[in-house]
Amino acid sequence: MERMIIEKSPALEGSIRVMGAKNSALPILAATLLGTEEIILDDVPSLKDVEVIIEVLKYLGAEVEYLDKATVRINSAQVSKTEPPYELMSKMRASFLVLGPLLTRLGTSRTSMPGGCAIGARPIDLHLKGFRALGATVEENNEECYVEASAKGGLIGDTMYLDFPSVGATQNIVMAATMAKGETVIENAAKEPEIVDLCQFLNKMGADIKGAGTSNIRIRGVEKLTGCRHSIIPDRIETATFMIAAAMTKGNLLIENMIPDHVHPITAKLKEMGCTIEEGEDMVRVKGPEKLLPTSIKTLPYPGFPTDAQAQFMAMLAICTGEPSKVTETVFENRFMHAEELVRMGADIRTDGNVATIYGVRQLQGAEVRATDLRAGAALILAGLVAEGKTIMSDLYHIDRGYVEFEERLRSIGAQITRVDM
Ligand code: UD1
Repeated sequence: MERMIIEKSPALEGSIRVMGAKNSALPILAATLLGTEEIILDDVPSLKDVEVIIEVLKYLGAEVEYLDKATVRINSAQVSKTEPPYELMSKMRASFLVLGPLLTRLGTSRTSMPGGCAIGARPIDLHLKGFRALGATVEENNEECYVEASAKGGLIGDTMYLDFPSVGATQNIVMAATMAKGETVIENAAKEPEIVDLCQFLNKMGADIKGAGTSNIRIRGVEKLTGCRHSIIPDRIETATFMIAAAMTKGNLLIENMIPDHVHPITAKLKEMGCTIEEGEDMVRVKGPEKLLPTSIKTLPYPGFPTDAQAQFMAMLAICTGEPSKVTETVFENRFMHAEELVRMGADIRTDGNVATIYGVRQLQGAEVRATDLRAGAALILAGLVAEGKTIMSDLYHIDRGYVEFEERLRSIGAQITRVDM
């Protein structure tokens, strides 16, 4: 089995380039199902999750070809299948994003529930509420774990309110509304940069969407969507992960190909903690201080502190001695699995519901740990960089879902990290 071995590393130094955003690439790849002409996407990150959604597109009848490592050509003119296969759909929650495009393009789709039946605390009710508001008939089969949606006469625009600004629901509904009759208004829509990127892409394909990046998105339905060329935005969570790595190792790191506005909460918190940060148009330099100060964070929808950087931030707070720090997770339930693994490395973290209190320790110790999910894996790698001795991490497939050549790139800035078969 593959393991990652991480050893105490010197200050991370040099420069690193951020890859295209996974969470932008996935919905945009799903949206290519809407077009009937050639689409070229640049800066597509080579990740397992991207491979999965490309397999789904191919199964449905799209032609997909890599022009180089990060450029993909897609033509969905021949897409005619309405039922993506369970084996692929169950691998990844984001594959549910094909439902909106298939529904509006082909009038019907039968799609497995995301992540198979183990849907747990991540429901899809807001996606379905949106489809119903657009006039679709939606049936959920909880025994066989699929959702069947149809709108034989076509979807019809309407105004709807999302009870929570869900990223996935906003994306799925926007995609469905692009070819609905009349105007759709999504109130309390998600405002994440990945929503803006998707809407810019859709507008290039001929859609008529206004207000992306605000709480109210207006979509005027069009007859058809065509082709275009589009570059995926840089990954703000990867950026945040490198920023935290620099801060924790007392490093001096230039992070290039990023959008400073997208990581504003991270920048603000790192400054509060004593880091020196220089921002340019598409770069940020982070210098870690001799001693990081403790602080508290609360995850929120964008532009609040991102839940996807919470685990990495907790790893950093684990070594901030002084007053205890607090982490409050408000976006997802049960997103503290990394806390237990950090405790194995000597961290003093006590969780109570959605609040974790972190009593900073002077030194973490290497241990055998498990990447319980993607961001937990990143957090444990960061902890391993400052822990005494060796950290041996298993379940690496989580890391490969979301970080491109992570250990090679970390090594290039001084990290002592290797992947071994053991
Ligand atoms: C996306 C990101 C994920 C990130 C999350 C929040 C992708 C591929 N994934 O996930 O990395 O952590 O945004 O920033 O872009 N909810 C409902 N009903 C729904 C949908 C969601 O109650 O129909 C709840 C969820 O249970 C969760 C919260 O809303 O508590 C946020 O979920 P959502 O914003 O939908 O996240 P995803 O789109 O799944």
